[in-house]
Amino acid sequence: MHDEALHSGAPGTSALLVDGKTFTINGNTVSYQFHVDGDTGDLRTDHFGGPITGPIPADPKPLINGVPTELPDRPEGYTVSELKYQAHTIVRGKPGLPGLPATFGGEEDVTTIIIHLYDDKSQVAADLTYSIFPKYDAVVRSVSVMNQGTGNITVEVLASLSVDFAVQDLDMITLSGDHMREAHRERRKVERGLHGFQNSTGFSSHLYNPFLAIAHPSTTESQGSAWGFSLVYTGSSAVNVEKSSQGLTRVILGLNPAQLSWPLASGESLSSPECVSVYSNQGLGGMSRALHGLYRNHLMRSKFVRQNRPVLLNSWEGLYFDINHSNLYEIAKESAALGVKLFVMDDGWFGKDYPRISDEAGLGDWVPNPHRLPHGLDSLVNDITALKGTNSANLWFGIWVEPEMVNPKSNLYCAHPDWVLSAGTYPRTELRNQLILNLGLPEVQDYIIACLSNILTSANISYVKWDHNRSMTEIQTPSAAHAYILGLYRVLDTITTRFPDVLFEGCAAGGGRFDPGILQFFPQIWTSDNTDAVDRISIQLGMSLAYPASSMGAHISAVPNHQNNRTTPLEFRAHVAMMGGSFGLELDPKKLLPEEKASLPGLIALAERISPVVVNGDMWRLSLPHESNWPAVQFISEDASQAVLFYFQLQQHVNEITPRVKLQGLASNRMYQIEGGGRYSGMVLMNHGLNYYFGSDYGSKVVILTKEPL
Ligand code: DGJ
Repeated sequence: MHDEALHSGAPGTSALLVDGKTFTINGNTVSYQFHVDGDTGDLRTDHFGGPITGPIPADPKPLINGVPTELPDRPEGYTVSELKYQAHTIVRGKPGLPGLPATFGGEEDVTTIIIHLYDDKSQVAADLTYSIFPKYDAVVRSVSVMNQGTGNITVEVLASLSVDFAVQDLDMITLSGDHMREAHRERRKVERGLHGFQNSTGFSSHLYNPFLAIAHPSTTESQGSAWGFSLVYTGSSAVNVEKSSQGLTRVILGLNPAQLSWPLASGESLSSPECVSVYSNQGLGGMSRALHGLYRNHLMRSKFVRQNRPVLLNSWEGLYFDINHSNLYEIAKESAALGVKLFVMDDGWFGKDYPRISDEAGLGDWVPNPHRLPHGLDSLVNDITALKGTNSANLWFGIWVEPEMVNPKSNLYCAHPDWVLSAGTYPRTELRNQLILNLGLPEVQDYIIACLSNILTSANISYVKWDHNRSMTEIQTPSAAHAYILGLYRVLDTITTRFPDVLFEGCAAGGGRFDPGILQFFPQIWTSDNTDAVDRISIQLGMSLAYPASSMGAHISAVPNHQNNRTTPLEFRAHVAMMGGSFGLELDPKKLLPEEKASLPGLIALAERISPVVVNGDMWRLSLPHESNWPAVQFISEDASQAVLFYFQLQQHVNEITPRVKLQGLASNRMYQIEGGGRYSGMVLMNHGLNYYFGSDYGSKVVILTKEPL
């Protein structure tokens, strides 16, 4: 049998080739191949890397302790299983993944092959779903397990993807961190043995982003092979990289087995989240651009994804909990005069019997505080949205919520103490004085949906910042953590479908839930509670390894910075924030220096001007803050007609010459006009570079280049 799908992968190949029981999945510059082992019926990995066509040489046998396989399996009660190939189905397009966020696309974008496996001893079936998006060299995989027997089984381990790399030296790159220190790149050699991480916090967390890159030791930002793996999931995950005794490297990403034990009665099934894998021969930069393009076009479904986001002012660092109708109105008025388009009221606006005047009370009671907002929420929103911005349009109004949480000091907790995640009579650990509602319960999901729907229909609210400020501690059973995430997805799906015109921003004490699962519903995420511009360069560039700039919220805050006391110039803070898709301010405009007030309208106008390139363009990390005193980033617009260069100097050193910054991705033989002066060919810009002098610490430049017409 020789089967071909509709659209092409690499020149001369099809996206899917089935040759007997060998399956080849092709993108523009990637091939992924596996076959059914004739003796055992197992699926064996053959190749994942640059494109291949035709037969490949067989590996020497036997490979003891290291047979490549697509599904390392083990059934209930035994240490062996026989999940054998039965059949396969080809689907043009991509079926949804019920209950879970998933990449999507039409027949012209993606082709899917489902491999059906069955173990006739345990009567367990498994479907392995592979979808290829050729344009992004992305293979997306998920696994579904079905209990086709008569008894009950328990799924203890369910990975989304397992892939084996042939014997070679490899590095692994992860994004680890902490609160206010998100997405720090760590690169290490894959030695023999087990590496990786298990996150058990119940949310994707600041500690380990559900992302992994594999690269050759010689791979750089712009050259060499790089594989990126990104789990479309918001809960606890596990990433394992294991180099066997003979040198094969197995990569597995999926649900954290310590929080699964999922019971499956006869006829029931469980699907894993999907794992996106991309391959690039253009280094880590190429890998990131593939993920960014895929996520912008085939994961994030908000109508705002491709739009310039309204420049916002968030009240948090300006007022913290000290908010009321009149001070909110005052700073909204000041911000409108500076060019802000959206005013966001952060924490502290709700709670009647247990007012939210600090983090000690009120979560769960989503009614406006009658003392702080004596005329109601609607009246505040009307007053603020009646203000006109510098563009003569009315200001938008946005609101902060943390709907998955409850303070014990709240009417909600008094009424429903049984609604929180807890383990019997064991003490309930409070973090930031709060407990987590058990979103695994349908009544809790319905309560949150009703509260949010009430708030959003009670006033003219255009934006919601959805926060989540603690990890899970006590849960009644291991499976409650995954049940929570499935409940969360139902809530997010319902609310975002019901309110498609509201711009949602995710947040979890900053970037604690910066993951592809959240991005399905929210087009932007507050990248970090650390708003210091120097730290933000590392955090935003770290996040950009997996996530597009368009998904990052980035704000100018006051100096000295509230998190680390550092003072940087306004322009530097603004330029760093402009590298995020959602640019804003996080300060009290009344406290700005006169010269800062004078420059802000121009900086806001610049951010709005370059935003289409940042939001929809391709990103090149030219130099990294942990390697250079001069970090630099470049974006190229979708139609390649414009480029924007961000160039920073962290410290001024005496008698030191600033290195030239070499651009990338331009058309060699075309001429580019630099705004403010200069006209050079792409070749000169890329091979010779541009030189700038900063003259002080925390210098920055935003350079706009326009390609001249032919
Ligand atoms: C944590 C968020 O990350 C902050 O931006 C702010 O919204 C606070 N929560 C409010 O409590």
